[in-house]
Amino acid sequence: MTPLAVDYENDGRLIRNVTPVAGASGTTSSWGADAEFFWHTDNLHLPFGSGGADAQLYIPRYLSFFTVRNWEKIPTEVVALDDVMKSLDHCALDQLRSCEYTVHAPDSVETATPFTDVAVIERHGSDHFARFDRAATTAGTLPAAEALELWIQTLRHARAQEIILRPGDFLIFDNYRVLHRRRAFQPNSPETSRWLRRCYASRRPTRCRAAGIRNRR
Ligand SMILES: [Fe+2]
Repeated sequence: MTPLAVDYENDGRLIRNVTPVAGASGTTSSWGADAEFFWHTDNLHLPFGSGGADAQLYIPRYLSFFTVRNWEKIPTEVVALDDVMKSLDHCALDQLRSCEYTVHAPDSVETATPFTDVAVIERHGSDHFARFDRAATTAGTLPAAEALELWIQTLRHARAQEIILRPGDFLIFDNYRVLHRRRAFQPNSPETSRWLRRCYASRRPTRCRAAGIRNRR
């Protein structure tokens, strides 16, 4: 994998400090704490795509977190899209695959235009990918809205992994096939509050050694 910085967020820096910031109070942001950040995928306002030199144009494939401290023992929760889909009825799933949704950039993104006429769940080969953030997703039709509500209810009852990261722990997961959540919490004082360091990553392009040609598949 290749670490990935994006110019539309975090001032283009590779590492984002995920820690409560006073100005982000009440927001669903990596700098928030007192508002639940419901199940979501990061930077959903872009298309799915492969890595390579143009990886910035796509939703970051991987999210990684290094733990500096987590004295409050706040879990980072993850759930596999495939597992959530097993609990969805087929009609709702078909609807979520329709391009009847609009997604907006999340709070942490500085400039971005809405991504219109997109699906919440896309099929790519034998895999399914999700783009979802409750606060950033709107439905364009009544059936799409009903399916979206079913999706939210299904997520609410999903069996998730609750990982309490300890100092020095490193967590990485697929942002296309795994959703994550952070519940609301009361942080310690700024000197001792939860502090993770986040870095996006894209797939490392495979190389054709014989020809020395980079494969951007
Ligand atoms: Fe996130």
